[in-house]
Order: sequence, then structure tokens, then C-alpha cells
Amino acid sequence: MHIAFLNRQGNFDPQDRYWTEHPDFGGQLVYVKEVALALGRMGHRVDILTRRIVDPQWPGFEAELDGYPGEPNVRIVRLACGGDAFLRKEDLWPWLGTEWVPNIAAFYRREGGGPQVATGHYGDGGLACALWQERGGPPYTFTGHSLGAQKLDRLLAQGKQSLEDLDAHYHFARRIAAERVAMNHAGRVITSTCQERFEQYGHPAYRGAVDPAEDARFRVVPPGVNMRIFDAETPGPQDQHVAALLEQVLERDIAPERRDLPAVLCSSRLDSKKNHVGLVSAFAESAELQAAANLLLAVRGAQDIHSREGLSPAERAILDEIVALAEAHGLWGKIGVISLVSQQELATAYRYLSCRRSVFALTALYEPFGLAPLEAMAAGLPAVVTRNGGPSESLREGDREFGVLVDPTDPQDIAAGLLRLVGSEEEWQRFAEAGRQRVLERYTWDRTALGYLSVMERLVPRSEGRLPIPEYFLDPTPEKGLGLDLLTSIWGTQT
Ligand code: F6P
Repeated sequence: MHIAFLNRQGNFDPQDRYWTEHPDFGGQLVYVKEVALALGRMGHRVDILTRRIVDPQWPGFEAELDGYPGEPNVRIVRLACGGDAFLRKEDLWPWLGTEWVPNIAAFYRREGGGPQVATGHYGDGGLACALWQERGGPPYTFTGHSLGAQKLDRLLAQGKQSLEDLDAHYHFARRIAAERVAMNHAGRVITSTCQERFEQYGHPAYRGAVDPAEDARFRVVPPGVNMRIFDAETPGPQDQHVAALLEQVLERDIAPERRDLPAVLCSSRLDSKKNHVGLVSAFAESAELQAAANLLLAVRGAQDIHSREGLSPAERAILDEIVALAEAHGLWGKIGVISLVSQQELATAYRYLSCRRSVFALTALYEPFGLAPLEAMAAGLPAVVTRNGGPSESLREGDREFGVLVDPTDPQDIAAGLLRLVGSEEEWQRFAEAGRQRVLERYTWDRTALGYLSVMERLVPRSEGRLPIPEYFLDPTPEKGLGLDLLTSIWGTQT
């Protein structure tokens, strides 16, 4: 089969440039790359369609055609969308229907034929699929990854900005209008968990676009872990280098008498929704936890906890809060910061730290799926993870636990969850084995690719009851603009 992945945000290249350095280079890129490669290795022809960027600040994305060494069936196809400069995903809506999709159609016309099936990722990739389908493109599946309505809910709950201000910055009206079309026109909507299907797609903002109770519209296909990188039993080429780096960090940040203690490792992007501050508070408020373990924060690009070079104002603010907590609670000598820049380095750190009976922590306020803890578990680190979102399905099945779930808003619960593992050798061992086994049995990219294939082999375009595509996406002039009406009809005039 010839399959197109439409993923406009971020970019793809053989070096996986900028991964985790910017919100548009997050887990979604890992997902798309890995499913594409798994399908390619099964003999299918796969094109990852993304945006061409010619920007000296973001080098590496200039060529129209690119690929991955040793993966002859997978192409990266970069096509113009909104000029040469790198632009964050929120600012790219005007050029989807007017430039990117016409360029996709023209690219395959030049090739003399196109894919039989497409798969759209995030609201923008999904809308592009719908627009392409309208112009004769193939039927498609839609994978939302993260939906705008829940993000808007979370931001409004913080009470810092009005609906109008949030829309001005994030363009929620465009995003939610695009998501509604993307899910409504799709042959199938693919979600990572049942919870995602019912909770995220059941939001009032998507009423009339899709009914989460309708089985024929959905397929749950969980993502997987790259076992070539994260396998606990397969040493990697970076092992010695990262072990030396970890030793240096322990020597620099951790008091000599504590250097043999297990570590609680947190390796999320510095983003308020990842709730680093909640984790540090849990550590700060529990003398028992401090006696049992050190806290290690992996922050890409941060040389140490005090350096702020290359970090955005929001990232700096989070580190400032952590430093203030460390000062107030006397955490110096118990907390360290390490910069790990690639998946290989992360995997090596997991393997190294698992030999010290360490624990992976992800206490995000909400985690749509939660691939990072599964990667850590594959590499031998048991995980303590937010109970909000996907982890409640991947780490628990009936009475069986594969990781420890905690309430991210309750520092005492976080500390108790961590102590369950760092405080008991037996529990640590039990969770380390159960966690790794769970990944091997349920969460590999081959299984994900087979899930996609089983849907794609029988995919038919939705023919009836399609929502109209808002004019804005075909003529993004101010008169056709998507005003706040869609948002105020759902959220009222919240401030
Ligand atoms: O990379 C994971 C991911 O969920 C992406 O799908 C998306 O780019 C980002 O994180 C979250 O996006 P948003 O904050 O716009 O919902």
C-alpha cells in the first residue's frame, strides 16, 4: 500500500533535530516517525508530508525530499506552507488550504499518482487530509494527539487570561473548527486509549462532529516504544559517555554521602502542564523521601540548575520556582540537573539509573497517552505517573498494576507513590519486572502499525453528513475570519 502521513508541525530529518527543544518537536514526531518506519519495514511505501523550512535559525529542513538511512520505503516530503521561516504551529492555519494542500496535490500529480490512503496528525494534519480528500485525495484516518478544547479548558481554569486573549495567542477558534472537520470527514478516528475516545472526543466543543459512542467511527490503537533504543537488555553506543556525564552531575550536585542513593528521575520538557513544581514540592515536603533518594531533573540544554541560557521565559520561570523551593527547603546536595539531548542518551540514563534502583517520575497535570514512562519501563526503570489521562489505562488493568499512579495535584500522594518504590527493594523489583513485561506485550510500534493497517485496508471515505469546511480555510481573509462565536457558544464569555 502507498500511505501518506500528513504532519505539518515540527519537522522530520535523519538526525531528529530539535526534538523536545520546542513544543512543536514533541512526542507526536516520535509517533509519526515510528509508525511510518514500522509500516515501511513491512513493505509499504510511506511518505511523511511536512513543511519546507528554509531558516538559518532552524537548519536541516530545506530539501524537498529526504529520508532515513536504511529505510528505503519511507520518504520525508517537505512542501511550502506559509513562507520559508520557521513558524509555530498556531500561526500556520492560513496557509493549509491555500498553499500546503494544493502543493501536496501538485506533488503527486508530478509523480503521476498518489497514495491510496492518508493519515492526518493533530488538527492541522487532519484538516489538510479533509481538504485534500475534497480535491480528490485519498480517504484518511485522523489522530488528534492533543485536542484544543481540553487545552482551552486547562488554560481557562488557570484564570490568568480571557477567552479572547487565549484565542489571540493560540488561535483556538481556528484549531477547534479544524478539528471538528478533521474528525467528521475522517474514515476513522484513531485514539491511543478508550479514555481519549470518550473523554476528549466527548467534549461539547465536538458535538455534532463526531459521536464517541459510535464504534464504527473509532479505533483504539496504542502507540509503542522503540525497543531498538530503549531495551533494558541492549546496551547502546552512548552508554559510556552518558554514564560519565551522570557521574559528573552526581559529583557536582549531590552531597558525597548521598551519591549512592537511588534517583527519582524526571525527564519531561519544562512546561507548566508537566508539573515539575508539583514533583519538587512533593520531594521538598517529605523528609522520608529525601532520606531515600535524590531528585534528578533532565532538562535539555540546561547546563545546571542556575543557568538559563537558551531557555524561554516560561521555562526560566519554572526553573526559578524550583530554585526557590530548593532554597526554602534546603534541597541543595539532594537535587541535580542534567542535560540529555537525544532518545539514545535518555535510554542510557534509564539503564544506568535502573542499576541504582531508581524511579522514573511523570507527574503531569494531564497526560494524553504517556509514552515516556513506557520508554523508561522498557529500559528497566519502574514508573510513578500521573493518574490523569492515558497512564490510567496503560499502567493498570483491573487489579494488576504496571506502574504507580498518583494524583499530580497532591504532593503527599506523589511522595507516597515514590516511596512505595524507592522505599522497598521488593516493590521496586516487582514493578520493574511487571513494567517491562507490559511494554513488551502491549506497546511496540509494530503492533501500532498493524493497528493502523487493519483500519486502512478497509477505509472508505465518509460520504454522508459531512460538515461544511469553514470558508476561512480556503480564503483566510479577515472577512472570512473565524470569530470568537464558536468559542463563546461553548465557553460563554469566560475571563
Ligand atoms: O507532541 C505531543 C503533543 O501532544 C503534540 O501532538 C502537540 O504538538 C503537543 O504535544 C501539544 O500540543 P497542544 O499543546 O497544542 O495541545
